[in-house]
Amino acid sequence: MNAYRASLLRFTPEGRPLFDEDGLLVAGPDAAGVQRVLDAGPFRAVAARHPQAAVTHWPGRLIAPGFIDMHLHFPQTDIIGAPADGLLPWLENYTFPAEARFAEPAHASEVATFFFDELQRHGVTTALTFCTSHPASVDAFFGEARKRGLRMIGGKVLQDRHSPDGVRDATEQSLADTEALIGRWHGQGRLGYAITPRFAPTSTDAQLRGAGELAAKYPDTWIHSHVAENRDEVRWARELFPQARSYLDVYGGFGLMRERAVYAHCIHFDDADRALMHDTKTAAAVSPTSNLFLGSGFFDFDGAQRQAMRHGLASDVGGGTSFSPFHTMLAAYYVGREGQTKPGLSLSPSELWWRHTGGAAQALGLEGVIGSLHPGSEADFVVLNPEATPLLARKAARVQNLEELLFALIVLGDERVVERVVVA
Ligand code: GUN
Ligand code: ZN
Repeated sequence: MNAYRASLLRFTPEGRPLFDEDGLLVAGPDAAGVQRVLDAGPFRAVAARHPQAAVTHWPGRLIAPGFIDMHLHFPQTDIIGAPADGLLPWLENYTFPAEARFAEPAHASEVATFFFDELQRHGVTTALTFCTSHPASVDAFFGEARKRGLRMIGGKVLQDRHSPDGVRDATEQSLADTEALIGRWHGQGRLGYAITPRFAPTSTDAQLRGAGELAAKYPDTWIHSHVAENRDEVRWARELFPQARSYLDVYGGFGLMRERAVYAHCIHFDDADRALMHDTKTAAAVSPTSNLFLGSGFFDFDGAQRQAMRHGLASDVGGGTSFSPFHTMLAAYYVGREGQTKPGLSLSPSELWWRHTGGAAQALGLEGVIGSLHPGSEADFVVLNPEATPLLARKAARVQNLEELLFALIVLGDERVVERVVVA
């Protein structure tokens, strides 16, 4: 049994922050050797219940749930910051050539190692990740995640049309590969498989139908794709699938909307789309640094809240500009200010934080497993230093309450704040 004493941030299932200025987190291994939270709360009360626990004390530090990145691309690590007029030329000029290199297992595993180093440095302990269309990229991703004991979700990209040589796959083989990879990796320790059509324009009807059939056959796998990111993309999807009510509805028609289905972006939606998301328990991965960088548009946080659409935060590296959850939360705040249906919305610091931890876990169908530090959940957590930089230290000395402390970290924080990352 291990006990950790510091300030402690947790969340209720409703997303309300629980804060103990002087807190204690007690963890111990389950039968599989995964460390789970046994108890958490105010130091005095929790310590009294566990007199035999050896306590590690981190004075002046904040223990918080490990961050959850709901959508990014590990093979795009090397193309962060590639300039383009918009999504489609960015894909053609930078993304597809970079991803073509992942046919080579040695390249895939070198990038996977760097990618996980980077995630962990930034305090991200779970991510839902695109690999590439090459099965070797999936083996590299999961192999490295397993070595590190991380809870990670990923999958082979499906793209059998409108894609150049080197990344385009073949319909039948792509579905057979997906099923084989589900068998090899899904549910191995803390790993989960995501059926991953890149986006509707790069899959044939047959591939989307096959993906939907696999999603029904393996109902606890994830589904992971993109939707309604960019106006040219939306127009293209409408041309390719004229029978669908909307771009989102294409996925619904192929059985690709259900609990554990996650769609990145969800910007150019109407209320009927949001209702479909809600009714099918499908989640949006909101990727504000990517949307600002690629000029895609502004996610409608008010619309999502109004229609109780599941959503959480994501970096979308390499469209996104940073692995840092702090940068993502700040960008989400800016995007909320811009608003779509409610200009000037001011998302609270604890809500932004929740959307990148416990709220993201809920959206992924992992409530009670990660993201909250509730007793019984897995003990993935970060130890943050609110005095990591001179400006932060100055600011931290002046904050009056939890919201101000979290906002100081969101606005001024980056990986320098992340002193330690503990993986269950
Ligand atoms: N839509 C289809 N593929 C991609 C991708 O790799 N990144 C982003 N941001 N959008 C996409
Ligand atoms: Zn993406």
